[in-house]
Amino acid sequence: MRILSGIQPSGKLHIGNYFGMMKPAIELQEQGDAYLFIANYHAMTTVQDAAALRQMTEDVALDFLACGIDPNKTAFYRQSDLPEVHELAWLLSTLCPMGLLERCHSYKDKTAKGIAASHGLFAYPVLMAADILAVQSNVVPVGRDQKQHVEVTRDLAIRFNNTFGEVFTIPEPSIRADVAVVPGVDGQKMSKSYNNTIEIFQEGKPLKKRVMKILTDSKELEDPKDPETCNVFALYKLFATETELAELAERYRAGGMGYGHAKTALLDKINEYFGPMRERRAELAADMDYVNDVLETGAKKARALARETLDKARHAVGLE
Ligand code: ADP
Ligand code: TRP
Repeated sequence: MRILSGIQPSGKLHIGNYFGMMKPAIELQEQGDAYLFIANYHAMTTVQDAAALRQMTEDVALDFLACGIDPNKTAFYRQSDLPEVHELAWLLSTLCPMGLLERCHSYKDKTAKGIAASHGLFAYPVLMAADILAVQSNVVPVGRDQKQHVEVTRDLAIRFNNTFGEVFTIPEPSIRADVAVVPGVDGQKMSKSYNNTIEIFQEGKPLKKRVMKILTDSKELEDPKDPETCNVFALYKLFATETELAELAERYRAGGMGYGHAKTALLDKINEYFGPMRERRAELAADMDYVNDVLETGAKKARALARETLDKARHAVGLE
């Protein structure tokens, strides 16, 4: 089974990104022939600053390697190291009905948020289809917001195969329905757009300040408290064992424990969990040659597949 997913380089990662997207993506490398790429061509639809794009691409590479992408199991690469996806995107775009793209929520949502309605933004799903079809992926793990784009991919692949003969594998989306929404320090969904995040690579005082800011109700120290409605407890759940959870829940219900205590317990857990990844990230950042090697090796493997697919597609349409 071949598995492919992509991530846009989009700023500092937070605990919500980690549990909602990175951890499941990293676990997939145990389940098949895994491909993961940094979607820097896609990011150009929103980032138009060369230094920022370069920096964010490097950051995502470091973040994912530090968090556990194993380059021996996953081909990890930059999208821009596979120029073949552009030629493939053109072949697909000539078959892509305007209506299919006009129906895409993501385009409507992004333009409603004020992102410029460029041709690139409109054609974004066609490029995404090319990413997926280039490596003949069977499974595409994505968040719910990307499901429609995988459906566009399937539609284009079926149209192409029906028109020109069998070239593409039809991919299936794999939606992470079981991943809970991680709350931010204000109790809303943690999101960089809400300025309520806890960053995974933040540490020391600024991290402590952030954790101490988590919104709680105004119960007094001696009052019994409800763990199930508490943001601190919801975050603690992500890190603790069953026994630790039961213990903390008991202390909430018994009264006599302040929220400060629960916050400190959470802070310890965050440091314990992400500490080794922070160290690993610093080591990797000091060895960018290694990181670039990993990305080049990953690109070589993915590019060989993309070349093979493109040659078949070029022949099928009559370019060769
Ligand atoms: P943000 O909301 O911070 O801009 P993105 O939209 O870039 O985050 O999300 C990147 C990935 O992280 C997506 O796959 C999304 O499903 C996941 N994700 C983001 N925030 C959360 C959250 N609070 N809980 C669970 N998953 C999340
Ligand atoms: N559009 C995806 C996102 O914003 C990123 C992406 C680009 C992708 N190409 C892909 C994901 C191919 C899966 C497969 O999250």
